Formats: sequence, structure tokens, C-alpha cells
Amino acid sequence: QLEAKIAPSMLSSDFANLASEAERMVRFGADWLHMDIMDGCVPDSAKSFILLLLCLFISNKQIVSVKWQLDSVLQIAYLDCHLMVTNPLDYVDQLGKAGASGFTFHVEVSKDNWQELVKRIKSKGMRPGVALKPGTPIEEVYPLLEGENAVEMVLVMTVEPGFGGQKFMPDMMNKVRTLRGKYPELDIEVDGGLGPSTIDMAAAAGANCIVAGSSVFGASEPAQVISLLRTSVNK
Ligand code: DX5
Ligand code: ZN
Repeated sequence: QLEAKIAPSMLSSDFANLASEAERMVRFGADWLHMDIMDGCVPDSAKSFILLLLCLFISNKQIVSVKWQLDSVLQIAYLDCHLMVTNPLDYVDQLGKAGASGFTFHVEVSKDNWQELVKRIKSKGMRPGVALKPGTPIEEVYPLLEGENAVEMVLVMTVEPGFGGQKFMPDMMNKVRTLRGKYPELDIEVDGGLGPSTIDMAAAAGANCIVAGSSVFGASEPAQVISLLRTSVNK
């Protein structure tokens, strides 16, 4: 049985109180903190544009502050960084320095240089992962799972990248199922629209790392949602 990792998405948190929001999630039982980093090229709405700007200016600082502002609980928190950027290579040093734990880049922008990227990510002490958008076939990540520069996690997007609160795309479960069939030990993460009403589909397909933004931050009892998500994966 693969370990469940529940990763509240900080994109749904109150950015003005990022550190205490992160601390609250760790206290509520989060395994990882999911950090979405965008560069202004993620196609989407006005709302996401604001987030992009915010992320542009504070992405580095916000991670530093999450790591250092508060007590020791946060200094050891696993920061699961999801890079929705055109040139992920440009962010490796910064994020390494800031204390990121996982570095997940998109396959759509990294077909030519993923080996170099993975090497650099590992050399900075981070764990490499690859993400794919809803329109990208699962076969495109297969090469990245072979050889000495293999990634250690695949993030299957279950919404179009851009912002939180979108509707889960059940069709994406075919990708998860296929991947799980081929790689029984791999960390498979799902991101977008996950919550109490969709977790069973994701868990049944074989996902073990669960990103959840609005369903956790919007809940009156986030700890209960986190624990429900974990129970569903471990069933
Ligand atoms: C979407 C981001 C997600 C987002 C998920 O572009 O990658 O991490 O925060 O939010 P929910 O869980 O609300 O769909
Ligand atoms: Zn994400």
C-alpha cells in the first residue's frame, strides 16, 4: 500500500496570512503543502492574472516566509511546488535556495530538456516530478519515468491549469489507472477539483497524492476533510 499524501493547495489560502495559513494546515494533518507557481503564461481568467502577478513578485519570498517565519513545525514542512511556467529551469536555483521539497514541472514545456532539468532539481536536493495538462496524453510522460534521470512523481491535472475552484474532470481517471497499472510503486498526484465528492474516483483509479484547495480551505472543519481524503486513499 502506497502512502497517502494530502496536500492542501495554498493557492486557496489567504495570501496576506500565508505563513499562519500554512501552519494551520500542518496542524490539521496536511502531509504536504502544495505551492502553485505561475509566470503569467498560464492561460486563464482575470482572477488568475492577479495570482500570476502575485506569484511573480512573491513566489520566492512566500516560500521563504513559510519556511522561516514560524515555528519548527513549518521548517520541516514538505513544500510540494507545482511550476506552471514556460521555463522551469530558470526557477530551480531560486526554489532550491528557498527550501522547496518537490519540484514538479510540466511535460508540455520540457520535452527537449527534461534530463538536464531533473539533474539540476536533484542537485539542489529537491524531488523531481512531472505534470501533464488535461489535453496531454499519458504516453508523453513515459520517457521521463525511465533511466537514471527518472522523475519520482507524476501529477495528473484534473482541471485546466490556472486557478482553484474548478470542476473535477472524471475522464482523467483513465490516465491515472493506466499509469498505476504500469507503475505500482509510483507517486501519482491529482490536482484540481478534489474533495469529498470526487476523492473516491481518484483513489479507485490509483492516485495516492491528493491536492485539494477550495474543498479544504472552504470547509468549516478542514481537519475533517483532510482526514476523509486520507481515509479514502487508504481504503
Ligand atoms: C490549478 C492548481 C491547483 C488548484 C487546485 O491550476 O494547480 O493546485 O489550486 O484548486 P482546487 O482544489 O480548488 O481545484
Ligand atoms: Zn497545482
